[in-house]
Amino acid sequence: MTDTAETAFTYRDGELHAESLPLARVAEAVGTPCFVYSSQALEDTYRRFSKALSDTGLNSLVCYAIKANPHLAVVKTFGDLGSGADVVSEGELRRAIAAGVPPERIVFAGVGKQRGEMAFALEAGILQFNVESPDELKLLNEVAGALGKIAPVALRINPNVDAKTHAKITTGTTENKFGIEIESLPDLLAMIEGLEHIAIEGLAVHIGSQLTDLAPYAAAFERLAKLFVELRQAGVNLRRIDLGGGLGISYTGGPGPDVGAYAEVAHRAVADLGVPVIFEPGRHLVGNAGLLLARVLYVKQGRSRRFLIVDAAMNDLIRPTLYDAWHEMKPLRQAPENAPLEPVDVVGPICESGDIFASARPFPPMKAGELFAIFSTGAYGATMSSTYNTRLPAPEVMVRGDSFAVIKSRPSYEDLLAEDQLPDWLRAAQGAA
Ligand code: LLP
Repeated sequence: MTDTAETAFTYRDGELHAESLPLARVAEAVGTPCFVYSSQALEDTYRRFSKALSDTGLNSLVCYAIKANPHLAVVKTFGDLGSGADVVSEGELRRAIAAGVPPERIVFAGVGKQRGEMAFALEAGILQFNVESPDELKLLNEVAGALGKIAPVALRINPNVDAKTHAKITTGTTENKFGIEIESLPDLLAMIEGLEHIAIEGLAVHIGSQLTDLAPYAAAFERLAKLFVELRQAGVNLRRIDLGGGLGISYTGGPGPDVGAYAEVAHRAVADLGVPVIFEPGRHLVGNAGLLLARVLYVKQGRSRRFLIVDAAMNDLIRPTLYDAWHEMKPLRQAPENAPLEPVDVVGPICESGDIFASARPFPPMKAGELFAIFSTGAYGATMSSTYNTRLPAPEVMVRGDSFAVIKSRPSYEDLLAEDQLPDWLRAAQGAA
């Protein structure tokens, strides 16, 4: 499989480009740090993913997991290509609707849905709620009853399969808070009998994120398919199956997990059920379609380490700090082939030792003021950012061909400070001073 990072972001005449736009031009126009997405890469990855599924003959619905990158321009790019959406909050649901995703293509997942969110989703007429606990079912029944509606539900099953990924993004074992354990199903189904405003229409599973090994998928999908048959035999009118998301990407520029092989694994497990199959990919669709542009502020030679102090920080991209995630980095101006590589620590300006993007990373010589890119930051980048240390949120830019649009501007300090409100007693004191 060709990696999108290789096709969307390439050196041309020694300058790193996004599609056919020199990235230095973006840095000049909007400053750094700044997230850049390639619309071509988004479209290509979506098409490749959905084609791999349809090539197997599966009747599939791709529901883009908005949490990976919730920007309206990203959601709409996929929505316009026919994607549905996987949302985990009313906020994400509102984004999906604002981007024009039809409600009948939206699934609502998550362990902690609240009454108001349920009501909003029922009014919107979404495809299904992926429900994760008996208490959630009871509340959903109550909310639907009050609105005179029937809530379409898929039970999210915890298949107890280890996804073999990072512990913080493993979701499918009994050690995790997610899903309904298979053993508890008979009791749950008995309880559901009494819930008049619930229609159990499907089963769902999601075992984790950034999976690169397909074996855990095969195990989880087969377990789910077996359960599907059993429940159908027991008289539950199941009409859909949801296989979740989690397919990984390559963070190193090499080949990533094979979408075709993934589609085959799904097909093998569930094709015989003869029902539509939902997929909830997030990272796979956006991860390598984005990068974070940054600038070197200082080069600091310590006794044992050489530090590149850069203008992006853990508040912009938390993944290295939180998951020890490895992100490729390259200078915007291509280093000569014979340039010596020296180990550097790439660190941000935040007052924490954990504010580090890479440790002892071999890098060509960089000087203060030079620009570089942190790759594979289209997923779980901007969306997990914060304003820690009162740093301004990084702007976001979408490239198309040789032009670009600012899709989120950097706010001003005035905007940021205006978010804080003083209580009356402090306001009075300030006025008096
Ligand atoms: N469906 C459900 C129910 C999920 O919980 C998730 C992700 C997805 C789909 C989409 O997973 P994806 O295809 O993107 O792997 N912040 C972490 C990843 C957290 C994933 C949470 N759930 C990271 O930066 O690696």
